[in-house]
Amino acid sequence: MKRTDVTARLLPKLVKASASAEQFAPSNIALCKYWGKRDAELNLPINASLSVSLDYLGTHTRLIPIEGQVDEVWLNGQQLQPGARFSRKVSAFIDLFRRDQTLCFKVETRNNIPTAAGLASSASGFAALTLALNDALALDLPPEALSILARMGSGSACRSLFEGFVEWRMGQREDGLDSHGIPLDASWPGFCIGLVEVDAAEKAVDSRSGMQRTVETAHLYQSWPLQAAADMSKLQQAIQERDFSLLGQTAEQNALSMHATMIASWPPLLYWQPDSVAAMQKVWQLRAQGLELYFTMDAGPNLKLLFQRQDRDVVLQHFPNLETVEPFGSE
Ligand code: ADP
Ligand code: DP6
Ligand code: CO
Repeated sequence: MKRTDVTARLLPKLVKASASAEQFAPSNIALCKYWGKRDAELNLPINASLSVSLDYLGTHTRLIPIEGQVDEVWLNGQQLQPGARFSRKVSAFIDLFRRDQTLCFKVETRNNIPTAAGLASSASGFAALTLALNDALALDLPPEALSILARMGSGSACRSLFEGFVEWRMGQREDGLDSHGIPLDASWPGFCIGLVEVDAAEKAVDSRSGMQRTVETAHLYQSWPLQAAADMSKLQQAIQERDFSLLGQTAEQNALSMHATMIASWPPLLYWQPDSVAAMQKVWQLRAQGLELYFTMDAGPNLKLLFQRQDRDVVLQHFPNLETVEPFGSE
């Protein structure tokens, strides 16, 4: 099914660029990863996933209606060429909303996390753009519709419409109208996420192609949907019971299982750098000494540490310069 068939069901035929708009959306870190698509046009996943949103870390996007035939795209204060891949992706996404009308925007977007480095800039980027379009075009769409639209920009973006823990139900429908984020009614004060920045440079293989390569070439990928389903149940239980060890173990094993499928692809896909491995070993060492510290990793060399506020000082001793987020506030 085409993306325009889906937007025809969600959006009015005639839209008007009524005003400028500015919106923020947080980035999110998956504890059970989205890895593999059953439909690449609509970004429909092969497995359900579960994430936690990163509070103030993410994307601010401003839209200003302009006269003309092309959008103007600015990233972190710099204007991009209309032909640049980044601008083309943004404009193609806005096309879904403007449908047959010629409405152009100046798009000013700022990421306060590194762009395309495995810190989910595509998630906060497309979620913020969706929210800003909803305002600029006075659409007044409900959160589920916004999540479905953001998903068509980048799958992980459907979870960035919400704060806290978010589940992405994979859905069954061909049009994907049942495949969107749902916030979990759960809070966890003192839950900490620390970002270990190994390399903030843009990755050589983006998540989209990495995922596709894995599904097409890794025999090991066959075991992934089962792993993900089992991990989803464990994570839901861990969140309900505030069982930090179960949450940490499940998230770390889920991330490493995903990376195992990447390594088993051809050509092989390894996002790790020597410093990524050194950081993993440090986590394992500290855990052997009794510290409740776990990590997760996405398609990039950077680690995200999971720990509780009571251990924050010890963790900071071993990982100085750690940027820490407490998505549910402190105890
Ligand atoms: P990441 O790990 O950062 O999500 P991806 O490879 O998934 O990396 O996605 C990177 C792509 O996301 C960029 O090349 C760009 O197309 C898109 N993106 C990143 N930031 C923004 C933004 N602020 N607004 C719109 N799109 C963005
Ligand atoms: C490893 O959402 O960036 O971060 O849907 O092709 O835009 P596209 O991919 P993207 O993939 C994210 C993959 C991941 C895991 C996750 O966030 O769940
Ligand atoms: Co991404």
